[in-house]
Amino acid sequence: MRYFPTFFDLAGKPCLVVGGGERATQKIRLLRRAGALVTVVTRGPIEEIERLAAKGEVEIRRRGFVEGDLRDRVLAIGAAGDDDLDLRLCEAAKRRGVPVNIVDRPALSSFTVPAMVDRDPVLVAISSAGTAPVLARKLRARIEALLPARLGRLARLAESFRGAVKALHDGGTARRRFWEEFFDGSIADDVLAGRESKAREKTLALVNRRSPRRRVDGTVAIVGAGPGDPDLLTLRAANLLQDAEVIVYDNLVGAEILDRARRDAQRIYAGKSRGAHAKSQDEINALLRDLAQARKRVVRLKGGDPFIFGRGGEEVEYLRGHGIAVQVVPGITAAVACGASAGIPLTHRDHAAAVTFVTGHGKDGEPDLDWAALARSRHSLVVYMGVATAPRTAQRLIEHGLDAATPVAVVENGTRADERILSGTLGGLPALMEEQAVTGPAIIVIGEVARHAEAAREFTQPRALAV
Ligand SMILES: C[S@@+](CC[C@H](N)C(=O)[O-])C[C@H]1O[C@@H](n2cnc3c(N)ncnc32)[C@H](O)[C@@H]1O
Repeated sequence: MRYFPTFFDLAGKPCLVVGGGERATQKIRLLRRAGALVTVVTRGPIEEIERLAAKGEVEIRRRGFVEGDLRDRVLAIGAAGDDDLDLRLCEAAKRRGVPVNIVDRPALSSFTVPAMVDRDPVLVAISSAGTAPVLARKLRARIEALLPARLGRLARLAESFRGAVKALHDGGTARRRFWEEFFDGSIADDVLAGRESKAREKTLALVNRRSPRRRVDGTVAIVGAGPGDPDLLTLRAANLLQDAEVIVYDNLVGAEILDRARRDAQRIYAGKSRGAHAKSQDEINALLRDLAQARKRVVRLKGGDPFIFGRGGEEVEYLRGHGIAVQVVPGITAAVACGASAGIPLTHRDHAAAVTFVTGHGKDGEPDLDWAALARSRHSLVVYMGVATAPRTAQRLIEHGLDAATPVAVVENGTRADERILSGTLGGLPALMEEQAVTGPAIIVIGEVARHAEAAREFTQPRALAV
């Protein structure tokens, strides 16, 4: 280990920054966040430093650096970008035993400033010991995405109960169990999902329960996995996948998404596809209930969004009816994802003032839809599960007055490696589906906006690079 990691308490302590440009400003901001008293030595501060000085946040000494500026400082940063000045500051600081960092010059520094993920009061610092700052920044971005935004609030809630837990729960083991239950169960889920008052109530109940058992409640998160591209998972979905003990997933959830889950998580396939039910909805409901009652952390993973043609509502109702804590995490629904992928804006100031998502597959075959309303103009219609019934859909819309020349686009396996975008007209939809042998999950976009799918063939979506 080249550097020893430490966290300095700078609250109310005098620190020095030499330099008045953008880099100096970044360091000043950082020091101020830690509560340091900052003096800046510079002949030419940029506007932001002037603003900070006007607010009394920093003191500016408008002249060159002299060794006396280091008197009583607990830390100094050189950000002037001037070789001679950097060297003078480095030598003076070392003479006086003041820790010094010269920006981007590890050889002149007695400490480095790491890349940081700040979830105050939780702080993650990353260092490559100056060997690869870009790698450290990339790692920072990965960790940033992994850590929930409200992690700091969770730490603060824990802090507010520390005294009570200490007073009411004797012995290290009892307290450890309490905190395991606090951080592993629905209390943490509630805080991270923004339901802090609920979490506080549950914590109070837990503190007052004298002998906490380990992991009393299991939890179920009904999570939207998005359309297939794993980069389109939400951050919360990715975090829950990392945390889950059991994942119950549908046939629309591909291997690339499951790869984002914890390696040792149990995976249960509950896929439902037209005519071939691996498990009935009743069986899935009962499975989720049993897992939660066995105190597991369960993620119920569904393609797209769980509340859009996903039967997520039924699962929530059933589980809540059994007293099980459920949270719902939205996902990017197929219409939205395929629209983006194919370059089709689902609403458009010139062509579509509204968009309707319908299913092409009703409980007993043909869906019961208000065709007259769907056939109106300045409107986009997106049909889910409509491959088999496409000829009927086209016929009904034309019968109810929609022009057979209305543009349509079919997006099959949207956002996945085998995505296909087809375009045609409403009158030609049945032939298009048959000739192109569309079978995969596909949505059909009907309306003037579908004309934009043509242009979409030209562009490809950039994919984020993994570290
Ligand atoms: C049972 S519904 C589930 C919808 C899902 N809950 C959502 O919000 O996207 C299944 C239908 O969603 C559509 N679908 C899902 N993923 C898709 C994708 N990657 N590309 C095109 N259509 C998709 C298809 O119409 C498929 O038949």
